[in-house]
Formats: sequence, structure tokens, C-alpha cells
Amino acid sequence: MKIVVVGGTGLIGSKLVKKLGEHGHEAVAAAPSSGVNSITGGGLADALKRAAAVVDVTNSPSWEDAAVLKFFETSTRNLLAYGAAAGVGHHVALSVVGTERLLESGFFRAKLAQENLIKASSIPYTIVRATQFFEFVTKIADSSTEGNQVRLPPALIQPMAADDVASALGRIATSPPLNRTIEIGGTEKLRLDELARRALAAFRDPREVISDPHARYYGIHVSERSLVPDNDARLGETRFEDWLTQATKPDANAGLRRA
Ligand SMILES: NC(=O)c1ccc[n+]([C@@H]2O[C@H](COP(=O)([O-])OP(=O)(O)OC[C@H]3O[C@@H](n4cnc5c(N)ncnc54)[C@H](OP(=O)(O)O)[C@@H]3O)[C@@H](O)[C@H]2O)c1
Repeated sequence: MKIVVVGGTGLIGSKLVKKLGEHGHEAVAAAPSSGVNSITGGGLADALKRAAAVVDVTNSPSWEDAAVLKFFETSTRNLLAYGAAAGVGHHVALSVVGTERLLESGFFRAKLAQENLIKASSIPYTIVRATQFFEFVTKIADSSTEGNQVRLPPALIQPMAADDVASALGRIATSPPLNRTIEIGGTEKLRLDELARRALAAFRDPREVISDPHARYYGIHVSERSLVPDNDARLGETRFEDWLTQATKPDANAGLRRA
């Protein structure tokens, strides 16, 4: 199958392109650096010729409220319009578990707008809502850092490895469209404050994590279950502890250090 991965140079996209290729598919990594731009439409018509499926794993360069909404609306409209013209039979998009519970944030309002455009289009689709990636945990900590302290709520979270996200997307993109939203998540529910504490300790990051029920997640008030999927979510395979033992500190400035 020819599958176009839009955002194919990103964290999830690059893993997905590799996995699809290993399974004998023609996987095209579409991104501005490969001459395909979902905002301007440049290169899209050519990239989508003969494509059976499109997987949208783009992300906005800016998460400022207006910019991120404009990015996901414009990019999704273009992908759907060019996809329909090319006869694409399956539009797969990666979204986030709990999006409708996180609308205090402009980022999640933009993801909901993306989902609604897909549902309203004529192209058969599958929307895949994933939980937070393990690779994203230190960024969550960064967003809640003041001085040497990271203040996070003990909300439940069921994070998963980016590798497992890519595997799930690969299986879904090569299967018939479901025309609905499905959820994927990690093997275990953890507490957000504890998760950050374990990640920072493993990366020998000196910041202290303070548990605070009133603290926010990326500027959003979250309740006990805001971030966790329903019980019928498809689960990844990798445990956080196992991932931590082979992960490298995701901080280019500090250099890559073994945990
Ligand atoms: N972080 C999480 O925990 C989490 C959880 C669930 C779902 N998600 C969702 O997962 C998706 C992918 O995340 P990620 O971390 O893999 O993203 P990422 O590493 O930031 O990659 C984003 C990709 O989008 C591409 N891109 C940006 N502007 C583009 C444009 N105008 N046209 C075409 N491609 C463009 C980038 O290309 P360049 O490399 O050329 O810039 C890059 O390939 C996001 O939509 C996010 O909402 C994230």
C-alpha cells in the first residue's frame, strides 16, 4: 500500500514511516523539508497520487491559541481537500485522549476542530486518540517549573511509548477505516506528579517535584480522570520503567546522557 505520513519527519511520523517500510509498504514521509507543506498545499497533490491512506501526525510550530487553531484548521482542510481529489480511501489522524475535557487550552480546542473537520469530510477516516507519550513527560515538567520546583497535580495519567503509538497507527492505517474515534494508551495508570518525579530522577535532573492538587497540567485544571482513556482503549506494550532504563535525556543542550 502507498501510505503518506504527513509530519513524517516528526517523533511519531519518522517511527511510523520506518515501521511501514519494514512491513513492505510504500511509506512517504511528507513534511516541509521533503517539499510537502500542508499549510500552503505545496507538493500535496503529487505526494497523494495513488495513496491508499494518509496519516496526519503533523504538529503546529506554535502552540499560541490563535496560531495553533489556524494551523490545525488550515492543514486539515488542505489534507482533506487534496485527499478527496486524489481518491484517498482512509484518512487517519492522531489526536489526544481527553481532548473534550481539556478545552481550557487553545491547543486542545485546535485538536477538536481538527477532529470535527475530519468527521464532516467525505473521506472514510479513523481518529486515533493517544495518551501522552513517555518522551513528552519532561516537557510536561518543564511547563510546570518555577525555579528548581516542578508543581504538578496527582491526576491519573496512562502514558505510552512513541514507538507503541507508531505501531498502533501502522496497524490502523493498513486496515479498513473505522469511521469513528478510538483510544490508545499505556499499560498502566500512574500519578502525574509521581511520573515526573521518576523521569527526572532517572535523568538525574535536580528539580524537585511538588505534589499539589491545585497545580495545572500545561496550564489546564485537570481532575482525577481527565487524562485517562476509557476501559476499551487499545494498550501499548512498553512499561514506563522499562522505557526509562534505555531512554536518553531529552535535552539537546545538556547532551545525551544515559539514565
Ligand atoms: N505529545 C504527546 O504526548 C501527544 C499525545 C497524543 C497525541 N499527540 C499528537 O501527536 C501528533 C504528532 O506529535 P509529534 O510529537 O510526533 O510531533 P513533532 O515531533 O513535533 O512532529 C511534527 C511534524 O509535523 C511536521 N509539520 C509541521 N508543519 C508542517 C506543515 N506545514 N506541513 C507538513 N508537515 C508539517 C513537522 O515537519 P518538520 O520536521 O519539517 O518541521 C514534523 O514532521 C500531534 O498532532 C500531537 O497533537 C501528542
